[in-house]
Amino acid sequence: MIEFRSDQNIKVDAERISSLVKAIRQDPMGGWFDLPENYNRAEFENIKKAAAKINSDSEYLVCIGIGGSYLGHKAVIEALAPVSPTKVLYAGNSLSSRELRRLLVELGDADFSINVISKSGTTTEPAVAFRILKQKLTEKYGDAAHERIYATTDIKKGALHDEAVAEDYTRFVVPDNVGGRYSVLTAVGLLPLAVAGVNIDALLTGAADECREFLSAGDLGSTAAANYATTRAKLAKHHDVEVLASFEPCLHDFEEWWKQLFGESEGKKHQGIFPASVVYTTDLHSLGQYLQEGRRDIFETMLKFSHDNSSEILVPTEPEDLDGLGYLEGRPLTYLNATAEEATIAAHRSGGIPVLEIIAPELSARSVGALIFFFELSCALSAKLLKVNPFDQPGVEAYKNNMFHLLGKPGF
Ligand code: PA5
Repeated sequence: MIEFRSDQNIKVDAERISSLVKAIRQDPMGGWFDLPENYNRAEFENIKKAAAKINSDSEYLVCIGIGGSYLGHKAVIEALAPVSPTKVLYAGNSLSSRELRRLLVELGDADFSINVISKSGTTTEPAVAFRILKQKLTEKYGDAAHERIYATTDIKKGALHDEAVAEDYTRFVVPDNVGGRYSVLTAVGLLPLAVAGVNIDALLTGAADECREFLSAGDLGSTAAANYATTRAKLAKHHDVEVLASFEPCLHDFEEWWKQLFGESEGKKHQGIFPASVVYTTDLHSLGQYLQEGRRDIFETMLKFSHDNSSEILVPTEPEDLDGLGYLEGRPLTYLNATAEEATIAAHRSGGIPVLEIIAPELSARSVGALIFFFELSCALSAKLLKVNPFDQPGVEAYKNNMFHLLGKPGF
């Protein structure tokens, strides 16, 4: 379903890929691999029921979480622009009081619910935002406030788990064997996505199909994920930066999710490719100059769709060609965008930038599900090829320890 093309001549070691896939599936944190196929059906139905309740009683759902606990679902909502009676807002992904104040102003006196999402249940940013928003919820709904709190966290431990049990919040589980940045297809992503009106059945089907197709390839070395991961490992020898590029502005947040996935998975032991992103044609008028003629330590990965399913807009015809656009009259914008994409790939290649292409069939829930699985698998393979653990993030502790010390947290 997902295709990979490149201008690089590489040879994939199919046997190595097979053994890495085996290691990934056996890894205590490799649960995301088989998840789309084996998702807990009871939990899935409960997610749909909770989403229907939230849609019936809330103008807003405030999703509180950081990193893998929010980037994935925010990305899918932005990409698909689904229709829903409930608008999803985000909190707890920074410590900015300005951001939180803006959110509180937007909430005003409207009916709302909270989905607090934290696998560890102890992360400072979401915990602080939760306290503040819980206070607002309690002021508005009194003793019934707890009926509007949905906690997605560990099944048996952590401060959030303990509070959810004590206060009788509705609970959803982040499976033990799925890490934060690989968790968008668990309740972490599925509850906000269902509330936002995304077809979560189609999303999971797309991911499951992509997984099945990968496993059923006679030669794993021929698969898109193996080729993307191997090409990255080869390019990593002489390139420090990968720029993910799309010609769809609604993929901005998807690129943010991708950056976290690859950055946090690969950037360790002084290894890894720095993940950056651009949205074209907008950024052709800012970073485009750098891409064309700046340092040559960059390669570019174009995220494309073979079929543009957006509703068509044509360049209008005018009686006089005052703006010089007569040559475009009657042409669809999708054609202009596709032409800009083709022109950019050719220009960047001629400027010495390796350009890889990842192609999904169209922008739909099913294709986005397939892309999520494809990138998770490619990322895990790529990290393994660089000989780093794709599933931990020890470096994140450094800033936390300093901050806790400065804030006077006991034990720091
Ligand atoms: O990918 C990860 O594991 C991290 O980015 C986490 O998702 C992030 O740190 C938030 O952690 P938690 O869900 O435990 O609050």
